[in-house]
Amino acid sequence: MYAIAMNPIEIGPSQEFSFGGENFVISLVVKDRPPSTSAAFTIAKNDHYIRVYEQLASAFSPRSILELGILQGESYVFFDKLFKPLRMSAVEIKPQPVASLLQYLSRTENRFAHFGTSQRDGEMLRQIILRELADELDLVVDDASHTYEETKASFEFLFPLLRPGGIYVIEDWSWAHRPDYQSSDARFSKRHALSNLLFEQLMLMGSTSLISEIRVWRFLYLIHKARGAARSREISQKVESDSIFDHIVSRGKKWSLI
Ligand SMILES: C[S@@+](CC[C@H](N)C(=O)[O-])C[C@H]1O[C@@H](n2cnc3c(N)ncnc32)[C@H](O)[C@@H]1O
Repeated sequence: MYAIAMNPIEIGPSQEFSFGGENFVISLVVKDRPPSTSAAFTIAKNDHYIRVYEQLASAFSPRSILELGILQGESYVFFDKLFKPLRMSAVEIKPQPVASLLQYLSRTENRFAHFGTSQRDGEMLRQIILRELADELDLVVDDASHTYEETKASFEFLFPLLRPGGIYVIEDWSWAHRPDYQSSDARFSKRHALSNLLFEQLMLMGSTSLISEIRVWRFLYLIHKARGAARSREISQKVESDSIFDHIVSRGKKWSLI
């Protein structure tokens, strides 16, 4: 169990809050979301997410953070202020840089962001960990594609590089089970559910001693890498074709994706 945060963030009636010297406004609308400005970052995480991260930060102090999926940079700033890591980097598939985030990065040391970079790009992630995170990876937050294939590709590459005791968070895993994703023309209707990956990670936890805990909420989950787990890939190794999921044992039985 994690401790309750000592001084919880106070969210105002207009969903605004100030934290770490920055202003945030919660906005969950996807279309026409107000852009982040130099006055306030528009954050797409509701108070449930904020409380989970607050709780996590009360017991965990990552030295290095890698965020997948930047959008307008608000969660980047939020994580930076909350966890106060030594180093932080992030990737975003959209090529247009976010001006308010670039301004923020220019004021802070050892803070990096890469636009036009996919979460699937293992070689780029390797370079980021090596050059920007001093070969230390303590916390990964994947809030990028939310697709099974891409989220799995990042996990396969990054989890072996995570330090023992490190934490890997995957957001919005449960979309395939929500009412608004059930029709044949809904978003992701042709894609595999992201919950397949959670099941595979549970099987991995049962099959190995790599994972000490998986904590699941309706909207996100976190995977705690066992303290005794060795780093199973060296940073000097090139992106490989073998998968951490090859370690699953299941009596020879196969399962199929939904
Ligand atoms: C749900 S938004 C969340 C961003 C941010 N973490 C937040 O809390 O507001 C997801 C972001 O991931 C980006 N994205 C989607 N697919 C991606 C991929 N394959 N690699 C990197 N980023 C991706 C999207 O363009 C979008 O900006």
